[in-house]
Amino acid sequence: MEQYVMKGGTPLTGTVNISGAKNAALALLAAAIMTDDTVTIENLPDVRDVKVMLTAIEEIGGKVEYLDKHTVKINGSSISALSVDYEYIKKIRASYYLLGALLGKYKKAEVALPGGCAIGSRPIDLHIKGFKALGASVDIGYGLISAQAQSLVGTHIYLDKVSVGATINILMAAALAEGKTTIENAAKEPHVVDVANFLNSMGANIRGAGTDVIRVQGVEKLHGTVYSVIPDQIEAGTFMCAAAATHGDVLVKNVIPKHLEATTAKLLEAGCEIIEYDDAVRVCAKDIELSPTQVTTLPYPGFPTDMQPQMAVVLALASGTSTVTESIFENRFKYVDELARMGANMKVESNIAIITGVEHFTGARVSAPDLRAGAALVIAGLAADGVTTVDDIHFIQRGYEDFEEKLRGIGAAIEKVDSDHDLQKFILKVS
Ligand code: UD1
Repeated sequence: MEQYVMKGGTPLTGTVNISGAKNAALALLAAAIMTDDTVTIENLPDVRDVKVMLTAIEEIGGKVEYLDKHTVKINGSSISALSVDYEYIKKIRASYYLLGALLGKYKKAEVALPGGCAIGSRPIDLHIKGFKALGASVDIGYGLISAQAQSLVGTHIYLDKVSVGATINILMAAALAEGKTTIENAAKEPHVVDVANFLNSMGANIRGAGTDVIRVQGVEKLHGTVYSVIPDQIEAGTFMCAAAATHGDVLVKNVIPKHLEATTAKLLEAGCEIIEYDDAVRVCAKDIELSPTQVTTLPYPGFPTDMQPQMAVVLALASGTSTVTESIFENRFKYVDELARMGANMKVESNIAIITGVEHFTGARVSAPDLRAGAALVIAGLAADGVTTVDDIHFIQRGYEDFEEKLRGIGAAIEKVDSDHDLQKFILKVS
């Protein structure tokens, strides 16, 4: 079993380069099969979720060719099956993007029904509502969700709740529908905009992505393109919080600073100095006392739920009481008990964590409950006195490329180990 082991207490300093956005990449890969031409996607993050999505595409007959670690060529002309197996949905929920992509292109698709996941129950009623509004019949049974239509016809869709997944899935189906579709109360996340830009580069006609109302004029077919994935705002935010929690000074490069504004605002409130450049942000927390603040997760441009655990770690080291309110997913505080084992003082009441800052954490053995919470525990370990081991790091590897290498590049004493022998060797080395 692989673990991260680290010795905390060293302020992180230096430069870290951010990879392409996992969540954008997953949607782009699904959308790439919507043409019979070849599509080249660059700046793909080298993470597990991306590999699972590529395998799912190959499984239904698509051709996938890696040109290098971060560039892939996809050809969807040989798709032979319109059914995506539970094996993929179980590993990454985002394989349900293949539903919108296949339905748009072939007017028929079947995907294993996603269940709940580590962070909440995660219904897909809004995706279904959108497909139905476009004229598809949607059936759920035997663990599958099946959608088909004679033809998809543009329509007016109001999303009762802002949903990234539903917006993207509907966007893909609507791109190849007849006539005009309007999606109201659409998600505005950077990766929604990236998917719209990508589809437009394939010949789609989508306007308004990044606002509440997206207008799609359906086209008959899409063509090939070469496209580069946007930088990962959550990976960037994670390193920003790592700099803050360890009182370091880190230049986070290859980012779009605008996408990081909510995280930047909260770190400023916590007392960090932040300098924005065209494609980088520098977070400096050297010799400062971290201040408490209030955080509420909200759809973009609000504070991202995917940054909630990492920011909570920073606030758990601030002098005073902070609150973190989780308004998107109901089960996102599972890391709190693990953090308490490292000395944090946090209490969860309903969807609010009340955090009383402590001077320092103490190293412990903890387990990653999910992807982002796992990253947060690593940050805590890097800020803690002594040695911390983090178990279940397969969650972290789903979404962070070369996490430990990037952290080592900014001075962290961290290693990935897969035996007790290696763990003891690390402990001997650092003690
Ligand atoms: C995406 C991200 C995830 C992030 C989340 C919120 C990907 C692959 N994942 O997840 O990392 O945490 O956005 O920014 O991009 N909802 C419904 N019905 C639906 C769909 C959603 O009620 O049909 C609810 C959800 O339970 C949740 C809220 O809407 O409370 C937002 O979920 P959504 O934006 O859809 O999240 P995902 O797209 O699954």
